[in-house]
Amino acid sequence: MTRYYLKRWYLATGLAAAVASGTSVSGFGQQRAREPVPAPGANRAAKENADRLLAEGMQTFRYDTFGSEEFWGDKVKLHEAIQGAKFGGMGSGLSPKQALELGLKVDMDAVPKNVAAAIKAGKVDLNDPANTLLLLKANAVVGVTGFFNRDGKSLRAIGIQCALCHSTVDDAFSKGVGHRLDGWPNRDLNIGAIVSTAPDLSAFTEMLQIDEATVKKVLTSWGPGKFDAQLNLDGKGFRPDGKPAATLNPPAFGLAGVNNHTWTGSWGTVTYWNAYVANLEMHGKGNFYDPRLDNAEKYPVAARTRQGHTGNKDDRITAKLPALHLLALPVPKAPAGAFDRAAAQAGKTIFDDKARCATCHVPPAFTEPGWNLHTAEEIGIDDFQAKRAPDDRYRTVPLRALWSMDKIHKGGFYHDGRFATLNEVVNHYDGHFKLSLSAEEKRKLIEYLKSL
Ligand code: HEC
Ligand code: HEC
Repeated sequence: MTRYYLKRWYLATGLAAAVASGTSVSGFGQQRAREPVPAPGANRAAKENADRLLAEGMQTFRYDTFGSEEFWGDKVKLHEAIQGAKFGGMGSGLSPKQALELGLKVDMDAVPKNVAAAIKAGKVDLNDPANTLLLLKANAVVGVTGFFNRDGKSLRAIGIQCALCHSTVDDAFSKGVGHRLDGWPNRDLNIGAIVSTAPDLSAFTEMLQIDEATVKKVLTSWGPGKFDAQLNLDGKGFRPDGKPAATLNPPAFGLAGVNNHTWTGSWGTVTYWNAYVANLEMHGKGNFYDPRLDNAEKYPVAARTRQGHTGNKDDRITAKLPALHLLALPVPKAPAGAFDRAAAQAGKTIFDDKARCATCHVPPAFTEPGWNLHTAEEIGIDDFQAKRAPDDRYRTVPLRALWSMDKIHKGGFYHDGRFATLNEVVNHYDGHFKLSLSAEEKRKLIEYLKSL
């Protein structure tokens, strides 16, 4: 605080008068002293800063590739599989129809009006990869940026964004084509299948020290809505029970006030995770430091490849972290009619008291303020995924938008979607915690969950 502001602040709080008259600060004066009125100048600067970061964060989240085109283009050559031999790439290319089937989404607000009209009139061949290039050129494929050659027709590289996994669309135009829904997880996106089509997978065979067939087997095991953000650390392609090791793409909204992040927490803050993802998963260009990844027993791949000591002189990530941190996207509210209001009200009491859900899912964050992690045993599931994180635990998921089964929670609940419905979740807790909930109590509890 500058002298000027200090003086204003004293005046505003009445402290100055109290100090000047030599009386003790008590009563009304004390009360006001506890609630300092921010100086208008400082207030404005903070607001301007917040507004700027918010706009910048949205821009970064939607459009910044962090230089990842060097990896997905130059190295992995994913763009060659997308454009196909006809445009100087490889194979038959990726048609818009195939792209939508793989869960990629199209931002209808970016599609040029004449193209949209032509699509509506059925005049655009959705089986022609040339039209995928057209959409990329318009910057209309959510989370993917095409870098074009000078001819403006063929791709020279492809880069990816946060929005690829953490945004979807509202299908306003047609299935997979609509307005952007920022922060909503894309639970249709088959990222493993997409990556497996890349002509050059040597970056993965070298990193994981396995052959190409095995890399493809792992990638194609993930399925829609899932990604494995620890494969690059521990090289575990499958769980001991033979199922894929990937986890569901979580929402990137409703995280303000939540301490640990990701399904297993204990990595760090949102800022840590954003740096991790941008450097180690998206393969953007930046700096990343985490000596915990030198633990060769737990993270053999990361230790060997020194991922905890990633350095780039040309850093396109670090400067973006403050804005990404501030991008506190709110939880989308349940639409009218999504739940039974009276039952939900009764369900809240069950959540808070008899079912003891609120001991971990503390409202209104619906996770614990503090160190919000638990062992697998505590919640009655296996510890495979927990053990891949530094603290060997699962994080109490902040319960968010549980009403949305067709988009946000498509693919189920818990880190791997093991419970297909809220009914299955509640039955699991009922058994594990021996809650003895009646059918009617379960119904009410579920209506309450759907209201969150
Ligand atoms: C390839 C898909 C993919 C991309 C791209 C991606 N993420 Fe994620 N994100 C995930 C997955 C999967 C997780 C869960 C990881 C885990 O639990 O191990 C996750 C977790 C998160 C979380 C934690 C959510 C929570 O509930 O705590 C945040 C925040 C996040 N990502 C933000 C970002 C940002 C910002 C970017 C861009 C810099 C990004 N992600 C890029 C797939 C992705
Ligand atoms: C001991 C702490 C604890 C208690 C008590 C608890 N939960 Fe959870 N809850 C968790 C953890 C940890 C997870 C994450 C599990 C995972 O990621 O696999 C979770 C996950 C969930 C999910 C999945 C959310 C998502 O986005 O996939 C729901 C729904 C849920 N809990 C509801 C409840 C209800 C209802 C109760 C009360 C009957 C309850 N929880 C009691 C810790 C707890």
